[in-house]
Amino acid sequence: MAKRRNIPHRTHSSVEMSTIYIHWPFCRSKCYYCDFNSVPCPQFIDYSKWLASYTKILQKYTEQYYQGDPITSIYFGGGTPSLLPNWFITSILEEIDNAFQLAPNLEITLEANPKTIDKIKAMNLKKSGINRLSIGVQSIIDADLKMLGRIHSAREAKECIFEISEIFDNLSIDMIYNRPGQNLRNWEEELNEVLKYPIKHISLYELIVEQNTRLKAMIDSGVLPSPSSSAAFFEKTIEIARNQGFEMYEVSNFAKDKCYGQHNISYWKYEDYYGIGAGAHSRCTLTGRKIAIAQISDNNEWLRWALETNNPAFNEEILSEDNEFKERLIMGLRSKFGIKIDVISKHIKAKYGLKNKLKKLQENSYIINKGSDVVLTDNGIMKLNLIIRYLTEECL
Ligand SMILES: C[S@@+](CC[C@H](N)C(=O)[O-])C[C@H]1O[C@@H](n2cnc3c(N)ncnc32)[C@H](O)[C@@H]1O
Ligand code: SF4
Repeated sequence: MAKRRNIPHRTHSSVEMSTIYIHWPFCRSKCYYCDFNSVPCPQFIDYSKWLASYTKILQKYTEQYYQGDPITSIYFGGGTPSLLPNWFITSILEEIDNAFQLAPNLEITLEANPKTIDKIKAMNLKKSGINRLSIGVQSIIDADLKMLGRIHSAREAKECIFEISEIFDNLSIDMIYNRPGQNLRNWEEELNEVLKYPIKHISLYELIVEQNTRLKAMIDSGVLPSPSSSAAFFEKTIEIARNQGFEMYEVSNFAKDKCYGQHNISYWKYEDYYGIGAGAHSRCTLTGRKIAIAQISDNNEWLRWALETNNPAFNEEILSEDNEFKERLIMGLRSKFGIKIDVISKHIKAKYGLKNKLKKLQENSYIINKGSDVVLTDNGIMKLNLIIRYLTEECL
């Protein structure tokens, strides 16, 4: 059951824009490294039931939280939302259009696995309103794709990107580095090649060996070597991307010609977002306070809960000022947009330890003031996790 607490009445004051995240939890098969809320597709999916659930939750968001501000981004993530039939995507977008106010330059992204999309599918997605695709590539070395449990070959991924780039101008790909057995020379060659593909954006993720994954078991049993220190990989990655005209605007995200992903930027700027689907999270502002909302993560439970309770919040919590600040700081420091000085100053009044820490970071050239924002320098980015821990531990 949903745990409703004392939620403030809504006001039409503080939210300037919001985004929507739709989670589709099914994939063709589970990749060995992946810890996302995704499972292999069941044999039968009752799409009308799923659509009814998404619709109900969308409507409830508009009734309980939405304040009429423009929606600047809709993101279909997963799992593998490129497995969804087109009519389903069109219906959800129609529902959103009916219930929310859409910004004129709305970005609508869909995540795709190369094996689940071709030119015709891409054309249909474009007709539905999708204007940005994010394709999971991970590697263009067949042996590594196999090691990661991917269902496509390097050639298939490359062909997919080239074909789809004829339809989608705004194309992004995901790659994973610091894979078991990978060395810097191989990565340099691989990354230099993919950066020449017709893409405007690339997400470059350092491999996280997640607990309870097949990859972790393979490393623990000695079948695969354990990836070692990643600082050199990170530095090399930034250097190669910059040399090829890709700007690092966040630790894992690089854009050409300023084609930033608007959806993620809204997270880093700590704007409101409505998450819909099993395990989805939201942050909504009501009377100046952030509400953290989580939905149930088991798929069948989620379906039942969404249809029966009509409640967007399985779990709902008004964030304390400290926790809200902590989240703002963690999100803000990741990107080149940083965090507003006045947000920090407001918090510093109560937390003096923070002031000295920021001064120290500035003296050591880890952070700088840029206009009205505090941002990490290149040195700071290299130590992002340490700096976040330094700022957020004892002092909060
Ligand atoms: C939802 S998936 C993208 C779309 C699609 N499901 C696919 O994989 O082709 C999101 C991305 O997160 C990244 N990712 C997932 N698990 C990761 C891990 N353990 N370490 C690093 N990156 C990971 C991958 O690059 C993946 O493409
Ligand atoms: S990486 Fe993508 S395709 Fe692979 S299991 Fe995770 S969500 Fe599914």
